[in-house]
Amino acid sequence: MFVSFEGIDGCGKTTQLQLLKLELLKRGFEVVATREPGGTALAENLREVLLDGASKIEKTGELLLFGAARAQHVAEIVRPALHRGAWVLCDRFADSSEAYQGGGLGLDRAFIRQMNDFATGQLWPQRTLYFDLDPQIALQRRGGGKGDRIEARGVEFQARVRAAYLEIAAREPARVTKIDASRAPDEIFAEVCAVLEL
Ligand code: TYD
Repeated sequence: MFVSFEGIDGCGKTTQLQLLKLELLKRGFEVVATREPGGTALAENLREVLLDGASKIEKTGELLLFGAARAQHVAEIVRPALHRGAWVLCDRFADSSEAYQGGGLGLDRAFIRQMNDFATGQLWPQRTLYFDLDPQIALQRRGGGKGDRIEARGVEFQARVRAAYLEIAAREPARVTKIDASRAPDEIFAEVCAVLEL
């Protein structure tokens, strides 16, 4: 089972991923918890470059680097794990590129979907949990700091990312479930379990 966790920076998705991982392990499943960009040596190197405030990267190059990290991650980690029958919990996946580089930076979203298909060999999560939160609240939760290179783009950028996520959720209701992330973590987790029929 392949589940991705999506949302703006500070939405709380990583906490939910950890809670789900513990619950699944308790029930005796094999769980692979991973993240994008990252999860492999190459992709973790790309992550450093992509998030480093000192990096100078064109928008187009940024998109392709996220795509390159994704291609390696899918081939090296996600596909083999799914093949073994493990649960794969992925902190961000292809929708992040459409929301951030498409919604946030204004790059062509149809092209980004094609890039994602190219990078993943058309592998998509069976379920995507989208944690919806107001960007101002997310900023407060993150401590109000400037953050990494992407977070430093500010609240208006995050608002455009959120709008794109909402569009994706409306477009693909069978895969993507929107979850109200303004609530307490245990309340949110109860919904996560219900969505996954656990
Ligand atoms: P994340 O792991 O959520 O950051 P942190 O570890 O700081 O909580 O994600 C890293 C950043 O990369 C985040 O700001 C979103 C961004 N991102 C994109 O812009 N496009 C992408 O395709 C992906 C996967 C991430």
